[in-house]
Amino acid sequence: MRRSMELKEAHHQAPDALLTPAKKVFIKTYGCQMNVYDSQRMNDALSADGYTSTDVIEDADLVLLNTCHIREKAAEKVYSELGRLRDMKAERAGAGREMVIGVTGCVAQAEGGEILRRSPAVDLVVGPQTYHRLPDVVRRVRGGQKVVETEYALEDKFDHLPQPRRQDVIKRGVTAFLTVQEGCDKFCTFCVVPYTRGSEVSRSVAQIVAEAERLADAGVREVTLLGQNVNAWHGEGPDGSEWGLGRLLYRLADIPGLSRLRYTTSHPRDMDDELIAAHRDLRTLMPYLHLPVQAGSNRILKAMNRKHTAADYLKLIDRVRAARDDIALSGDFIVGFPGETDADFEDTMTLVREVRYASAFSFKYSPRPGTPGADMKNHVEEAVKNERLQRLQALLTQQQQDFVDSLIGKTIETLVEKPGREAGQVMGRSPWLQTVILDVNAARIGDIVDVKVTKTGYNSLYAERI
Ligand code: SAH
Ligand code: SF4
Ligand code: F3S
Repeated sequence: MRRSMELKEAHHQAPDALLTPAKKVFIKTYGCQMNVYDSQRMNDALSADGYTSTDVIEDADLVLLNTCHIREKAAEKVYSELGRLRDMKAERAGAGREMVIGVTGCVAQAEGGEILRRSPAVDLVVGPQTYHRLPDVVRRVRGGQKVVETEYALEDKFDHLPQPRRQDVIKRGVTAFLTVQEGCDKFCTFCVVPYTRGSEVSRSVAQIVAEAERLADAGVREVTLLGQNVNAWHGEGPDGSEWGLGRLLYRLADIPGLSRLRYTTSHPRDMDDELIAAHRDLRTLMPYLHLPVQAGSNRILKAMNRKHTAADYLKLIDRVRAARDDIALSGDFIVGFPGETDADFEDTMTLVREVRYASAFSFKYSPRPGTPGADMKNHVEEAVKNERLQRLQALLTQQQQDFVDSLIGKTIETLVEKPGREAGQVMGRSPWLQTVILDVNAARIGDIVDVKVTKTGYNSLYAERI
């Protein structure tokens, strides 16, 4: 996989339809929350350049796929979608209408110009480090070029990306993502992120605080700080000293109107004392921690280059729970990493039983080109991976159900987020991320209210205002 990529341009015939004003963008987002945040920032950048965003692909003059490369299936989805878009583009061309197709995100960074070779209907490929250049790239495409922009920019994209307009923040609702950290230096042997997102970079305290204040000013009640390694975030505070994520959370908790803080995704090696203390001290910091461990066998953890043991992880969980006893744990797991034996897998099951997760994500190992894991011997058979995944997911689903069931009859705090799926309902979020379904008259969107849980669904809670 290429880490720093060249800029390539090839001239092609500009279609006549360029003369008609084309000003609607449709962005389809794959992958993690960081891509959700990035898609919003791309919308903001393009809106400053005169585009409006649309949810209807048929109306769009510019279609961007913001992609994910984490597993093979994720990357392949993009190519099947590009097949559909190619047909749509051909149909449009027949009707004399232009349609620009772009690929952004982690597949763009990993595959660069290869995407144009495989899918010639694509006009532009832009990697995550250069989204601030997107309006310029689109202009060049409309001038008749194909553009691949996957170099790591020297300038900080966050200094150049326009902030969303207040009305756009309001439209996005009462919860928001805020990327504070990007990239990863950990190089787990299964993972593409260090290659697609580059090395760890932290945004400055001033930038983060200013963005959080703007969000709060537009009515946002809950902010989730994002980073591929969010707890590796560090920055210089106003006093000149080095701050870690814990300190940053104390600062953000002071912002009027911001009532809930979350952060994701953390690495066990970066959970320091101050961050754990923040969980003890800050009521604003939600009692929820997504702390992936991936596997329970020390042999496999070593082969994955996780740099911690199962016992280290369990000790850490004990410290976190000692600081905040109502904290809910969530994790990510990979089954069938090369060399994983039945006994190794049983270690994962044992660890899960010990932790008791409130929710979790689990995946079959997917070999990724350019990562050390892909070249390892002893790949696990697909049938074995399937069976292990089924067993693990059955256990995790049971734990999730146990967690939600434990809330029946309890009074919990809920942030009301949006209208419910059915008429007469509104939907909120519990401190532990379950959907809470309430009567529409119980509270208004943006309210934080105490409710009593009456019954449970699949990771959801029905509740009454008290
Ligand atoms: N930065 C986060 C995770 C990023 S990727 C962390 O360090 O925890 C999200 C999850 O995808 C990972 O936690 C892992 O469980 C899974 N994943 C990553 N690479 C994978 C691969 N090659 N095959 C299967 N799952 C993978
Ligand atoms: Fe990937 Fe590991 Fe970095 Fe997480 S810590 S992004 S799993 S390399
Ligand atoms: Fe996927 Fe990139 Fe996120 S690979 S998980 S979109 S960082």
